[in-house]
Amino acid sequence: MIKKIGILTSGGDSPGMNAAIRSITRTAINKGIKVYGIYDGYLGLYENKIISFNRNTVSEIINKGGTFLRSSRFPQFKNIDIRKTAINNLKKKYIEVLIIIGGDGSYLGAKKLTEMGMPCITLPGTIDNDIPGTDYTIGFFTALENIVQSIDKIRDTSSSHKRISIVEIMGKTCGYLTLYSAIAGGCECIVIPEIKYSKKKILASIKHGIKQGKKHLIIAITEYICNTKKLALYIENKTKRETRVTVLGQIQRGGSPVSYDRILASKMGSFAIKIILSGQFGRCIGIKNNKIIHNDISNALLNIKNFFDPKDIKLAKKLF
Ligand code: ADP
Ligand code: F6P
Repeated sequence: MIKKIGILTSGGDSPGMNAAIRSITRTAINKGIKVYGIYDGYLGLYENKIISFNRNTVSEIINKGGTFLRSSRFPQFKNIDIRKTAINNLKKKYIEVLIIIGGDGSYLGAKKLTEMGMPCITLPGTIDNDIPGTDYTIGFFTALENIVQSIDKIRDTSSSHKRISIVEIMGKTCGYLTLYSAIAGGCECIVIPEIKYSKKKILASIKHGIKQGKKHLIIAITEYICNTKKLALYIENKTKRETRVTVLGQIQRGGSPVSYDRILASKMGSFAIKIILSGQFGRCIGIKNNKIIHNDISNALLNIKNFFDPKDIKLAKKLF
């Protein structure tokens, strides 16, 4: 029977990570397992920032955004010697299993640790919703809500001035957040990495909107696809309508988690302990068709992306 576990959060923080830490901690303690929190993600693991937890350590965090364990980007973790030091730090405290809440990069770290003899379990914590093996990630719905609220505000000022607005949305290489923000925010044009970028097509849909007599036109675009300032100049020149760019940035990731993220995190956290007690490691937790499930981490990383339903792109376009 496992007696000691560690928890860390890694990569981009996501709202609901605190609820997951709370759920893991309380479920484990209820089962007689000792819990340690590791601060600052893999960096803190390497630097031995490992603290003993009790029930009260995780009090009053369920409603807080971010992660109270903090997070980091620590590319040096790809180095095997750095990981050996990290594992030794865990072993010195007799920690037998590590639970990692993070995105696909963090999953890769967890897979390597498991292969090196430190069993890991992962929970999908990222706003991007780009983790295979789960329909939803912890933080996605809160970020979506943040973005839609911003789009609603941009719409007010955009229609007052009959302007075109370009809203740049996070997601790295995944258009999930952009697509569903655009559907919920009623945007006129969607530009996502999954569809080949074409300035001409964007212009055509803008012109179509103008013809229809639209006062405002909002283009939802995933970050890194193009230089949005240059795109704005291009549209302004071609349409003679003022065009503004809003980069939503880190605002999307902050704030109190919505109920769904808290519930998802609580379910996944508790399930992780169940998996550990059943003696299964190197597993990643997910939700599929409203059921909490687990998969082998390696399998989860084989599929590059968690694809959304392509019919939803058609739906968004139909509603313009
Ligand atoms: P996310 O987990 O949100 O995708 P990152 O891609 O930044 O965020 O990954 C988080 C951390 O996971 C990295 O900073 C690094 O410490 C670790 N990591 C990423 N890729 C690897 C890898 N190939 N091997 C070992 N560790 C990795
Ligand atoms: O992976 C989450 C995410 O918010 C991405 O959508 C984005 O590209 C990245 O993290 C931004 O990271 P940072 O806050 O470190 O700039």
